Amino acid sequence: PNGRRPAGPEQAQDGRGRQAAEPAPPMRGLRARNDELRARVVAGQAEAIERQHGLGKRTARERLELLLDEDSFVELEPFRRHQAHGLGMERKRPHTDGVVVGSGTVHGRRVFVYAQDFTVFGGSLGEAHAAKIHKVMDLALDNGAPLIGLNDSGGARIQEGVMALNGYGGIFHRNVRASGVIPQISVILGPCAGGAAYSPALTDFTFMVRDTAQMYLTGPEVVEAVSGVRVTHAELGGADVHGERTGVASFVYDDEETCLEEVRYLVSLLPGNNLEPAPSAGRCGAADDERPELAEIVPVEPNRPYDMRAVIGELVDDAEFMEVHEHWARNVICALARIDGETVGVVASQPMVLAGVLDADAAQKAARFVRFCDAFGIPLVTLVDVPGFLPGVDQEHAGVIRHGAKLLYAYCEATVPRVQVILRKAYGGAYIVMDSRSIGCDLSLAWPTNEIAVMGAEGAVNVLFRKRLLSAADPDGLRAELVAEYSEQLMHPYHAAERGLVDDVIDPVRTRAAVARALEMLRNKRRSPPQRKHGNTPL
Ligand code: HXC
Repeated sequence: PNGRRPAGPEQAQDGRGRQAAEPAPPMRGLRARNDELRARVVAGQAEAIERQHGLGKRTARERLELLLDEDSFVELEPFRRHQAHGLGMERKRPHTDGVVVGSGTVHGRRVFVYAQDFTVFGGSLGEAHAAKIHKVMDLALDNGAPLIGLNDSGGARIQEGVMALNGYGGIFHRNVRASGVIPQISVILGPCAGGAAYSPALTDFTFMVRDTAQMYLTGPEVVEAVSGVRVTHAELGGADVHGERTGVASFVYDDEETCLEEVRYLVSLLPGNNLEPAPSAGRCGAADDERPELAEIVPVEPNRPYDMRAVIGELVDDAEFMEVHEHWARNVICALARIDGETVGVVASQPMVLAGVLDADAAQKAARFVRFCDAFGIPLVTLVDVPGFLPGVDQEHAGVIRHGAKLLYAYCEATVPRVQVILRKAYGGAYIVMDSRSIGCDLSLAWPTNEIAVMGAEGAVNVLFRKRLLSAADPDGLRAELVAEYSEQLMHPYHAAERGLVDDVIDPVRTRAAVARALEMLRNKRRSPPQRKHGNTPL
């Protein structure tokens, strides 16, 4: 009522205005009890924590401390407990239910996080645990901020049966709804077994730590029971297996500290969502840079290998770039970096591995990267030095047509600014696929060393002049003559430049400047895809 102070705890009254029989405890006591309960929840179980440390792993809270800016974490639902019955669950109802969720900042930018706590029910996922994750996923999507999941879990909580499975389904569904809207990052810091592995597979990037992280659908025991094959956890689904052979892990590190530091770096390069630009680090004069080293790194001879990473180092700011899938399909490089302060995605042939050919794995790796960059408005710079697709029975039978089509599709669909730089050679289908003019690059730049053709001179001459060579008195002499003629007519960039397929033939030392200027020119590019539900990407 107006003018009256509400009754304090000492004068607590019941609904009819009479003095209550028991005075409410003073606020001081309530606060102390809340503090004490929270402290207990935050402290966790000493014995279980010791075991976790003994396994070489940090706790969920220690990990969040490494991941987030100091003092920025706002925890949600620390007091949540499961409501399950049976199998002794009534007697064991730890707070948090095995996952710490909330929000914080990384380099000052908002992120939403969940960290599974292996010290509680082995981090296994039951109904309440899942509901907490669903909540931060919804908040991340509603607020347009990246979602980072730290996974360390025995999978579906066996005691909770179908409700645990239902919880996973809710995560997968949200992963897909958020795909292409907010960046989603999975960090695997322990077991990630069974269907649980599908959430990371649905997200944009998966980080793993050597020795402690594993991902598999069925563990070693089941594998042995079904197939008789004995295998260790690491051999079956350790970080190196997924970093080098399956492509499931985008990043692999030796320890949690480095891993979480690199997650922070990745976040610093990305926009919070698909409607905002990636954070700019500010211009640094790239548009006027000359890099004499570029003329030295790339040999003029078309078949001499070199490390494309050295070229990327010269092109990007501070020679700093973050390679995605560094250890898988190494014949192509996909990296995030900055040029003149702005985030770019670099796709590059790697002449040092398999001569830089495209194959099934490389096409899948690059396709996924191109789609990520396109979804989040990150311009693409494609560095081409490609002899073609890898020929072979293995490749054909591995479905290189289907996988190569993924990369082609991804580029054709991409509406972000796209700059192609052809360094030395670009042959056949691989020329087309590596962001050629015909599939929609905005600007194609070529070095003077450049060769663009259906195939190399030797191969072309053998096909075109097979009969003449067979009947020639001096086949080698004739071949050399024909190769020289073919090279003079076709094996230089001016053939493409005269026809508008190359916008300019540039001085290699000015490549960084030319790319920076091209990106600046294309900064406001807008192109809307045609109206449709979605295309039918080859999968
Ligand atoms: C309930 C679990 C659990 C689970 C582990 N725990 N996994 N509790 N449900 N899924 C409990 C253990 O009982 C133990 O509790 C504590 O967590 C630590 O586990 P340990 O086995 O002692 O740890 P460790 O030796 O390090 O082995 C870790 C492990 C192993 C390899 C993850 O626990 C394991 O194999 N768990 C089962 C994995 C699994 O098959 N999950 C289901 C996958 S199928 P106490 O009380 O002793 O400390 C799945 C379906 C999802 O996830 C489908 C979605 C579509």
